[in-house]
Amino acid sequence: MNSEGRLLELEDLRKWFEIRRGFLSSKVSYVKAVDGVTFTLDEGMAVSLVGESGSGKTTLGKTIIRLYEPNGGRIIFQDRDVTHLKANDLKWYRRMTGLVQQDPFGAFASHFTIFRSLEEPLLIHNTVKSKEERAEKVFKALEEVRLTPVEDFAYKYPHMLSGGQLQRVAIARAIILEPRLLVADEPVSMLDASVRIEILTLLRRLQERLRLGVIYITHDLATTRFFSEWALIMYAGHVMEKAFTQEILRNPLHPYTRALLTATPEPNPENRNRFKQVPPGEPPALIDPPKSCRFSPRCPRAFDKCFKEEPPEFEAASGHWVKCWLYERSEGK
Ligand SMILES: Nc1ncnc2c1ncn2[C@@H]1O[C@H](COP(=O)(O)OP(=O)(O)OP(=O)(O)O)[C@@H](O)[C@H]1O
Ligand SMILES: [Mg+2]
Repeated sequence: MNSEGRLLELEDLRKWFEIRRGFLSSKVSYVKAVDGVTFTLDEGMAVSLVGESGSGKTTLGKTIIRLYEPNGGRIIFQDRDVTHLKANDLKWYRRMTGLVQQDPFGAFASHFTIFRSLEEPLLIHNTVKSKEERAEKVFKALEEVRLTPVEDFAYKYPHMLSGGQLQRVAIARAIILEPRLLVADEPVSMLDASVRIEILTLLRRLQERLRLGVIYITHDLATTRFFSEWALIMYAGHVMEKAFTQEILRNPLHPYTRALLTATPEPNPENRNRFKQVPPGEPPALIDPPKSCRFSPRCPRAFDKCFKEEPPEFEAASGHWVKCWLYERSEGK
């Protein structure tokens, strides 16, 4: 197989959290937060993980970069199996990957200057030896995220910066070790609306310039149009639909994706009456979930089989996969 240009392959990836019911109980149950994800991402490409709260987006992102140990399946990164790396190999993988989280205000030690916070990963990984080289890297990272003149920002403390500026510092910290893959977990949801597009545009520019793979986690299907080549629609630990972002937005197939799209607030006031809700009901409990389609209790198009058997992923159109019995007979079209 020619894997040139391939950054990441997920094969049936699973992350189940073990829980014990009661302090001394020997009965173990599992929260099946990520339950069989298969996907491939090329170098320099971005994929959006989209879904309601609790669908498993953060768990998938953190499992991919091995902040969580997977329970099953495989993660192949640049042709290397990283699923169960340990010690120094895992440290190498940490350098190759970065994470930007939702809350920039809680992301930095309040008694560290920005310079000190950015220097930290360089010290931990000991990638550059001299103080001068470290300073050069810190200033370069600040330039990359457009916090210039860099000297004006480097010696400030976190409380002196705005949310948008702090999120830029968080991005600088995530790229300072020159990773190949970045997970951005709802990176703008806590910021003022006015700076959201700026931050997403910055991420997109870095992705292109540094040829970074990006996993962009969001509730907002509308923003995926501009910020990712691929989209994975998640529900209750499963990927319900995956395809090029443009294809999903133009031709959404899964009833859940369609519901998410109509629930996206319409920016044009004339079309405001298009604002609808995802069908009522709750996502299923992820502790020992039933062997049916996990969306079936809320699905407006569910029929008998949906309540009895979990569908596999059908390739409904070329490169467009849907985990839904409605597309059983459409394969190969
Ligand atoms: N450490 C944990 N132990 C047990 N269950 C967990 C743990 N972390 C997450 N979960 C459960 O896994 C499921 C998926 O959670 P996750 O945080 O990945 O969802 P999410 O899609 O990121 O949601 P949100 O949009 O609210 O951030 C949820 O049912 C959650 O309660
Ligand atoms: Mg989350």
